[in-house]
Amino acid sequence: MALDLASLASVRAFATAFLHSEPRLDFLIHNAGISSCGRTREPFNLLLRVNHVGPFLLTQLLLSRLKMCTPSRVVVVSSAAHRRGRLDFARLNHPVVGWQQELRAYADSKLANVLFVRELATQLEGTGVTCYAAHPGPVNSELFLRHVPGWLRPLLCPLAWLVLRTPRGGAQTSLYCALQEGLEPLSGRYFANCHVEEVPPAARDDRAAHRLWEVSKRLAGLGQEEEEAPSSLSRPHPEDPTVTEPHTNPHSSPDSSKLTHRSRMKTELKTSAS
Ligand SMILES: NC(=O)c1ccc[n+]([C@@H]2O[C@H](COP(=O)([O-])OP(=O)(O)OC[C@H]3O[C@@H](n4cnc5c(N)ncnc54)[C@H](OP(=O)(O)O)[C@@H]3O)[C@@H](O)[C@H]2O)c1
Repeated sequence: MALDLASLASVRAFATAFLHSEPRLDFLIHNAGISSCGRTREPFNLLLRVNHVGPFLLTQLLLSRLKMCTPSRVVVVSSAAHRRGRLDFARLNHPVVGWQQELRAYADSKLANVLFVRELATQLEGTGVTCYAAHPGPVNSELFLRHVPGWLRPLLCPLAWLVLRTPRGGAQTSLYCALQEGLEPLSGRYFANCHVEEVPPAARDDRAAHRLWEVSKRLAGLGQEEEEAPSSLSRPHPEDPTVTEPHTNPHSSPDSSKLTHRSRMKTELKTSAS
């Protein structure tokens, strides 16, 4: 099943296909993420879309199945970078340009992950579905390396191999949050190295968490119908969610740009690396 978290249409299509084909959902782990927009120029904050809004929407659309399979869990892979995040709600979905804005937007999206889990835990209290934010640690993955110019890779790759965790090591905290027995009382909390950790004040601000929830609903184009009657998933969503966003590009067709953005990004990166 294909899933492009940058495209809300793709998230909806994936959820529909999943709900029709899979009777059980015991664990939902949101691991996918990006650290840069590459050379794509979307009329919205692509980092927030892939790292938070897409996973937010997917969680909402699959919630009914998680509730049918209790005890079930949602794990959102965040990062220690959330400690540098600060959400500016006035500019939350503004396009991100340049590496400095990208670093900031990455940290903000990871703070959004922690706040999302916090609010989700509140909303799910008593349902048997629990949720956790997980930091994998510094992992030797493609997250940052894929944006390094080709000539620098031979220098950086051995260094990364020496000092960073293997992807298997990086997966341990997420797996712990999904599988460890008895974690239910810690629903809504942030974990690193398979331990619960305190987060800074910005990441335990309940008002900000609630506000983010409401803004995320709008950015995801989540209607009451989808929230309350998940069976409606089989019908196409009436509104194109990006239309409600302030920075929609009037020259691009609504969702085709997003459906293809990953392949475009990969092609562009290959070109720039060669
Ligand atoms: N690496 C670190 O040091 C580190 C530290 C802290 C937190 N994290 C977090 O760990 C998570 C995993 O990152 P990673 O290090 O494993 O990075 P990675 O090697 O770059 O993997 C990212 C994954 O996300 C998927 N992905 C990217 N864009 C997507 C989209 N639009 N729709 C669906 N899937 C998409 C990629 O799929 P394709 O391969 O198909 O493109 C890939 O499987 C991320 O949430 C990241 O923020 C990583």
